[in-house]
Amino acid sequence: MGFLSERSRYVKNDIEVLDAVTEQLRKKGKSIVSLNRGDPARYFPTPKYIIDAYVKALMERKTYYSRAQGSVELQTAVSDRYKRMHGLDIDPARIIATAGITEGLSFVNSALINPGENAIIFKPYFTIYTTALELNQGKPIIQRYDENDAWNIHLEELKSSLIRSKGRDRLKHVKYMMVTNPNNPTGTVLRRNVLKELVDLANEYGIFLISDEIYDEIVFNGARFTSVSELARGIPHALLNGVSKSYDSTGFRIGFIVIPEEDRRSDLLRDKMLEYARARISLNTPAEYAVTAALNNPKGHAKALRHRVHEISDRVNFSVKMFGENQFLSTVRPNGAFYVFPKIDLKLLKFKTDVQFVTSLLMEEGVQVVWGSAFGEPSHFRIVSLAPKEILEHAINKINDFCRKNARR
Ligand SMILES: Cc1ncc(COP(=O)(O)O)c(C=O)c1O
Repeated sequence: MGFLSERSRYVKNDIEVLDAVTEQLRKKGKSIVSLNRGDPARYFPTPKYIIDAYVKALMERKTYYSRAQGSVELQTAVSDRYKRMHGLDIDPARIIATAGITEGLSFVNSALINPGENAIIFKPYFTIYTTALELNQGKPIIQRYDENDAWNIHLEELKSSLIRSKGRDRLKHVKYMMVTNPNNPTGTVLRRNVLKELVDLANEYGIFLISDEIYDEIVFNGARFTSVSELARGIPHALLNGVSKSYDSTGFRIGFIVIPEEDRRSDLLRDKMLEYARARISLNTPAEYAVTAALNNPKGHAKALRHRVHEISDRVNFSVKMFGENQFLSTVRPNGAFYVFPKIDLKLLKFKTDVQFVTSLLMEEGVQVVWGSAFGEPSHFRIVSLAPKEILEHAINKINDFCRKNARR
């Protein structure tokens, strides 16, 4: 028996895996452009009214433990947001605040997954889904977004896999199906009819549906966002959300899990989430005050958001256009979030894998991106398109030159 647990070998986050190399290169005086982390607050200052609320909470010495699941005021503010955005009445007591969605993911997986059990995850996926699942010795059943269909969910494949699994009685070990809308890393905004089919399938096969909607307000290019909560009334489901991206507050570490329905599984999960929250005692209390103020200021939010989404869409579209000049890459234009996820034509280049491509790009050109394998999708890379256009232009010119220099002859 080793000192560390067996399951601890699954802990990883490939998005930051090259940070140590970057630090070394910087120490040696090399200039590096890091476009690996999806952190809007690095490029767009968190709005002043949110900062003021945080400072006020500190000045009023709100530095004690919070209510574990979040204050009634915070729960109510989240519920009011669902009313405003989707016309829903959600009981505030069915909303549990977490230290970001990431904490919610570890709670949910720890609460639901026994060793060997499964969850349906669509690839490419947000890296932490598989980490949180595998840390609990669960195994993903991978379904996919289809690159040839603008990265939409491949519903036909999902349907046939569900039919086959039912025959083999495998479904009783499938604890949940995770959908991400808009998606990281592809930026896909799922159409309402696709989501409706997903909800219907989850209902038909009795699979608990979880929808991660962290990018719900970062939608552009004419796309429209629909929340699963609008379509899944009466059907067991949970929503994961938070202020990291839409409220430009990644470092505050406030997210929430919403479990709106009152069926047996929803009730069990909601009660267990409460126990998990209590077992870690508290949120970051001043951040909780700031977030409550942010959620209760829809006018201030709309103004800040409009400007930010406009800028983000401009930067994303600009990046896609620049990658369009590169014959070694092909890119589907995203309609949400702030990532661009080009496919690398490895046949035309000297590299065998996306990992080699991304590592050499960092070493040779000083541009840090994330390999597609981190999201379950090899032969791709993800670039965060939040930086100002001059930085993106500089970095993408380097990527395009790097491809030309490394062409197979
Ligand atoms: C799809 C998705 N969910 C959740 C998160 C993390 O959210 P939080 O900051 O609330 O932990 C991210 C961060 O990149 C994400 O892309």
